[in-house]
Amino acid sequence: METKIKNILSQMTVEEKIEFCAGADAWHANSCERLSVPMIMMSDGPHGLRKRDKNEKGELYTVKATCYPPAAAMANSWDPSLAARVGANIGKECRAEQVSILLGPGMNIKRSPTCGRNFEYYSEDPYLSGKMASGFIKGLQGEGVAACAKHFFVNNQETRRFSTNAIVSKRALHEIYLPSFEMAVKEANVQTVMHSYNRVNGKYAGEDGEIITDLLRGKWGFDGYVMSDWNAISTRVAAYKAGTDVEMAPAKDGVRTAEVLEAYKNGEITVEEIDNSVANVLRVIFRHLPADTKGTFSPEDHHKAAAKAAEECMVLLKNEGNVLPFESGKPLAVIGMFAKKPRFQGGGSSHVEPLFVDDITEFITTENGAEITFAAGYDTKHETTDELIEEAVAAAKKCGRAVIFAGMPDSYETEGRDRRHMRMPPAHNRLIEAVSAACKDVAVVLMAGSPNELPWVDSVPAVLHAYLGGQALGGAVARILFGKVNPSGKLAETHPLRFEDNPAYLNFPGDGDNCFYGEDIYVGYRWYDKRKMDVLFPFGHGLSYTKFEYTSIVADGNKVKVKVKNVGDVIGKEVVQLYASACPHPITSTYIGETSFGFARAVRWLVGFDKVELAPGEEQEITFELCDRAFSVYDEKVNDFRVIGGDYEISAAASSRDIRVSTTVSVDDDKKFVPVITKNTVFEELFLDKRLPKAIVDELVSAVYPDIENENGEGLNFDAMRSKNGYVLRQRITHLGNELTPKKLDELIDNANAKIREYYNK
Ligand code: BGC
Repeated sequence: METKIKNILSQMTVEEKIEFCAGADAWHANSCERLSVPMIMMSDGPHGLRKRDKNEKGELYTVKATCYPPAAAMANSWDPSLAARVGANIGKECRAEQVSILLGPGMNIKRSPTCGRNFEYYSEDPYLSGKMASGFIKGLQGEGVAACAKHFFVNNQETRRFSTNAIVSKRALHEIYLPSFEMAVKEANVQTVMHSYNRVNGKYAGEDGEIITDLLRGKWGFDGYVMSDWNAISTRVAAYKAGTDVEMAPAKDGVRTAEVLEAYKNGEITVEEIDNSVANVLRVIFRHLPADTKGTFSPEDHHKAAAKAAEECMVLLKNEGNVLPFESGKPLAVIGMFAKKPRFQGGGSSHVEPLFVDDITEFITTENGAEITFAAGYDTKHETTDELIEEAVAAAKKCGRAVIFAGMPDSYETEGRDRRHMRMPPAHNRLIEAVSAACKDVAVVLMAGSPNELPWVDSVPAVLHAYLGGQALGGAVARILFGKVNPSGKLAETHPLRFEDNPAYLNFPGDGDNCFYGEDIYVGYRWYDKRKMDVLFPFGHGLSYTKFEYTSIVADGNKVKVKVKNVGDVIGKEVVQLYASACPHPITSTYIGETSFGFARAVRWLVGFDKVELAPGEEQEITFELCDRAFSVYDEKVNDFRVIGGDYEISAAASSRDIRVSTTVSVDDDKKFVPVITKNTVFEELFLDKRLPKAIVDELVSAVYPDIENENGEGLNFDAMRSKNGYVLRQRITHLGNELTPKKLDELIDNANAKIREYYNK
C-alpha cells in the first residue's frame, strides 16, 4: 500500500493535495478521480449510525438505525467485550449503508457531572474509559469500518466550546485526560482521531504539534488521520503544521485551500508537510473502502442485541427490603410519562433515528402477567398538576405497589449546552415524594445520562438507574424489575450528594474563555476520596439480586489473583474492581502528608476490572496483570511517566468505597530515568530517593554543609537534616559567612550528576 500511496503522491499537483486535505462535503473524505482515489463516507454515531441522506425530493433525512445505549450507559456494563459486540453491529449497519468511517467513540473524561455531552462519554476514570472505547473500536473496525476517537483533547464542557481554554497541569493532562486516547491507539489501533474545538493551555487542540505529532503519532504510534471537529479550524496552516490532516467540514468555496496554497507559495508550509497528511488520509481510505455491494443485517437481531446491552448497563442503586425483583401476578401501578415516552438517548449530533422503540408498559404487562394501572404523573412538558399527582397516588394505593419512571428530559442533556444544576424537573420530584408517601412498595426507575440530586432517595426503598438505555430499554427494564435478568451494571461515575460537591464546581465552566482545571488529577472518585466526602452513590457501585463474597487476594509478581464467590440464591454477574493505593512513605509521610515520595497521590485509582458470571455457590479465580502504568506518575521533569518505587496496596473491591480484600506489593523505582540533582533538589529527596546512591549524596551534602556533622553530631541522614526539611542546596549560598559561591555549587552538583550517570552506566 505504501508504494501505491507514493505513486499517487508523485502524480498529484500541490493544489490537488491541498484540496484533498479538506472533506469533499460535511460527510465525505475527499477523492481524486483523476488518480482513481474514491470518495468514502463518514457518519455520526457513536451509539448507532446517524447517516444523513437525501430523499427523492432532495430533502435531508436521517437513515433509521439501531439505537444502542450511549457510552454513559455502556460504561456501566464494565464489559469491553459487550462494547465490541455493539461496535461490530454498528459496523454491519455502516456496511449496509456503505459508510466507511463512524464518528465515534466519544471518550472525553467526565470532569463535571453537568457537561451537556456527558451522556456521550464513558467515565470519570481514564482506565475504564479507555478499555470500553477500545472494545468498541475493535468491534467496529473488525467489520472494516474506521472508528474516530473524539474529541481530542481536554474537551470537557459545552459552554463556549469553540473558544474555551482549558488550563490544565501536565500531570492531569497525561494522567487523566489523555490515557483513554492512548489506549484507543495502542490497544485498538483506532484509524481516525477528531480534534476538539477548544484550546488547551492557550493553543487550539488542532494546532498543538507536541500532542498531535510528537505524542499521538510519535510516541503512541497512531498511523491513521486526524480530522478537525466540524468547523473547528482556526488557522489551517498552523493546524497542518501541528499534524491535523483534514479540515472538516470543509470551508465553503475552498477558502482554506486558497489560504494554504498562499502559505505554500510563501514558503510557510512545505510540500513534504502536505504529503504526510495526504498519505495519512489515503491509508485510511484504502483500508476502509466500501464494498461493491451493500452489507446486510437483521434489524430484529440488532434490536435483541441492543436489549442485551441495555440489561448489562442498568444499575440497581438501592434495594431496601428487597422490594425488587417484583413478584409477578399482582396488580402494579406504572407511573410516569417516561413509561410511555421513554428517554433513551441524548440530543445533538449523536441522535440516532431508531428502528423501533420498546413500549415499556407492554413489557411490564407481559412480565407481570397481571393488571397494571398506568398514571402519567406529569405531562410531556414534564410539568404536573394536582390532578395528575392525585391520579398517580390513587393508582399506587389501589395496586399496593408502584414503579415510577422519572429522570431528565431531552432538553436537560444535549450537545452545545451544559446543565446549570443537577436537579431533576420539580414535577418528577414532587411525583416521587407524593407516591412514596402513600405507598411503601415503590421502585423508581431513572432515565438520565448523568447524575442528579435525589432529594427523595431516603423515602424510596428501591432505585434502578436505567441511564439512557437505547431503543430496546423497555424489555430490559421489565426483565430486571421482575428478576428475569439479574442487574449487573455498576456506576462508571460518582453520583455526588450535592452539585456543589463536585470537583469542578469552583472552576466550571470557567471565567470567560479561561477554564482552570484547579482540581488537577482529582477528578471523580479521586476527588471525593481524597477529601473524605460522603457521596450519594460511589464510583463502581451497583447492587445485584444475589451476593458475592471476595474470598482471597494473592499477588505474585505482576499478577494478582482474586477469588470471588456467589453466596446468594440466584445466578448473577459481578464486576470485580482492582484499585491501587500508594502506602504512605515510611519517613516522608510524617512530614508531608499522605503522599508518595515527592508526588501527591490519589487515595486509590482503578488499575483493573473484570466481570464474571457465577451460579449460586460457584467460586472463580480471576487473574489480573498489572503494568508499570499502574504505579506511575507523569513526571514533568522527564516529560514522561515514571514508576515511583515503594509499597502499594492492591485491593479487590465491589465499588470504590467497598474494598473487600487487599494485599501489598513492593515496586521498584523506574530504571529508565537517571535521577538528576539540581540546586533546587530538596533535602528529603536527596536523602530518601532510593535512586540516588548514598555515597554520592553524602559527598555532595558534606561539601555544601561542611558543618553539618558538628551541628547535630548525628551524621548525614534525613533525621539529622530534619530541621532543614524543604531546604534546597542553593540556600546554602546565602548563609552568612558561607564561602560557597554559586559557581562552586554548580561544580559540586555537576560532579555529583556525572557520578550518578556513571553509576547508572549512562
Ligand atoms: C460534534 C462532533 C460531530 C460533528 C459532526 C460536531 O459539532 O462535536 O461530535 O461528530 O459535529 O456532526
